[in-house]
Amino acid sequence: MTATLGIRPLDASFGAELTGLRIAGDVPEADFQAFLDALHRHHVLLIRDVPNDPAAQVAFSRRMGPLEHHAAASAVHPTHPEIFCVGNYAADGITANFARGVEQWHADSSFREVPSAASLFYGAICPPEGGETWFLDAVGAYEALPEATRARIAGLKGVHCLYTLSEWNRRHTPGRAPMDEARRRAFPPVAHPLVRSHPVSGLKSLFLCPAVISHIEGMSVEDSAALIEELMEHATQERFIYRHSWRVGDLVVWDNRSTLHTASLFDHEKHQRLMFRTTVAGSARAA
Ligand SMILES: [Fe+2]
Repeated sequence: MTATLGIRPLDASFGAELTGLRIAGDVPEADFQAFLDALHRHHVLLIRDVPNDPAAQVAFSRRMGPLEHHAAASAVHPTHPEIFCVGNYAADGITANFARGVEQWHADSSFREVPSAASLFYGAICPPEGGETWFLDAVGAYEALPEATRARIAGLKGVHCLYTLSEWNRRHTPGRAPMDEARRRAFPPVAHPLVRSHPVSGLKSLFLCPAVISHIEGMSVEDSAALIEELMEHATQERFIYRHSWRVGDLVVWDNRSTLHTASLFDHEKHQRLMFRTTVAGSARAA
């Protein structure tokens, strides 16, 4: 760490809280490099008490690389289109993306040909309970697999597909419209390895997104689902998971190339929730 930054591990096998980091585009290079090193080492970073400043979040995120524009254009921030708004909040020109149904473990934008490198998620309005984000140590889960399983899945590729995710969402959130043809064409299915290597650390991890993967290349849909379920049963053991309870002002940054995450439900009739996500594009196909 630098003279100004501090770090302490979260209560999990991975993840850390960073202290002393200002979220802004002009963060000193030494601090920014220390932040990146910490992200690659710990996979998930928590920064507390960050002011609600969408422009600063975008500027800081941009230091990490070009930003994705979310596929669901209706939920983008009115003045900062790089921000995807999540929650049940609908005011001030914001209509956040709200899913009533349960989510599944995933890495963000795995359905893209080049999946996202990292995501930054900011708690602007947080319910007092529920609405947690759960993270999964996909590196630790891979490393703990039996040798025979690692050999069995080496070289296999999952076909990730936005349409598959859209249909999954429709089954779990009634009333959603089917994905239109234009978006279907814009995001054709793409095959990514089930075991990917991190481009910076070289660490191998499980790249499993059960609601997004239509099948594993060369396998039937049924056999694919059975294998993914077997691997997810292993990967979702408590020892690989960190559950984040949000406080207003929390910024959590995660590496999409070494972790999976999912959301938990909250009482959306009683409480409001508004989260701002910026998503750093990947620089190469998953390998
Ligand atoms: Fe996500």
